[in-house]
Amino acid sequence: MAQQAEAQIRTEADLIAADDAIDRGVCGISLACRETTRFRVQGAHDPTPTPYFVLERLFAHFSFDAGSHLLDVGCSTGRVLAHFLRAGYPGHATGVELDPELAEVARAWTVPHANLQVIQGSVLDLDLSGFTDYYLFNPFDSNVLSKLIHAIEEQSAHPVTVVHMSDNGEVWWYLGRPGWSEVASGTFQDFKNGRGYPVRIYDDPQHWTVWRFDPVQAGTI
Ligand SMILES: C[S@@+](CC[C@H](N)C(=O)[O-])C[C@H]1O[C@@H](n2cnc3c(N)ncnc32)[C@H](O)[C@@H]1O
Repeated sequence: MAQQAEAQIRTEADLIAADDAIDRGVCGISLACRETTRFRVQGAHDPTPTPYFVLERLFAHFSFDAGSHLLDVGCSTGRVLAHFLRAGYPGHATGVELDPELAEVARAWTVPHANLQVIQGSVLDLDLSGFTDYYLFNPFDSNVLSKLIHAIEEQSAHPVTVVHMSDNGEVWWYLGRPGWSEVASGTFQDFKNGRGYPVRIYDDPQHWTVWRFDPVQAGTI
């Protein structure tokens, strides 16, 4: 976000409006989504997008190259894909989304972009072998997460990076598992504008961790 625009942000509504303007510039539509999920019974969480300033900081932990393939686990209307496009990263990004209506919004705006793809369905039904990087922002309950971690372990034949952010961090699901190591961690709660003025964005701190899974260390290949 440009420093001048950042300095204008003094409330959460200002930040949402600034992100909305970025969405429209990148995709032609707003990707804002304040709905409640209709898929709670499948463990899904609400489709809230990650703010761009958070994505800018967290994505510094990925090292994309032409062979990279990012999976946004639970892409909602596609904010992470918009960030990928806007930042001009090399490689490909796919979003998978359980909710057909949200997946259709994301699919429609990403169609012209050859490096972006949207799949409607559950991440648990995907072939994960081609993905090199994963982004998770509070997508679902722990029982789904536990199955996803198993699937990554079973299907990855190369090292992968996982950036995971949620209210409680979900750290314990990764800890002590062979092949997983923690690269970095932290929290987000406030947006600090260009003048250092803190704007409260989350009621509870959002914990993030960057994980690396190496199948050779895990002994799975
Ligand atoms: C908090 S939103 C994150 C949106 C987006 N990743 C972002 O950061 O801007 C979580 C999304 O995960 C989706 N989701 C939940 N369970 C899923 C599953 N099993 N497979 C795919 N998507 C799922 C929800 O429908 C919701 O849209």
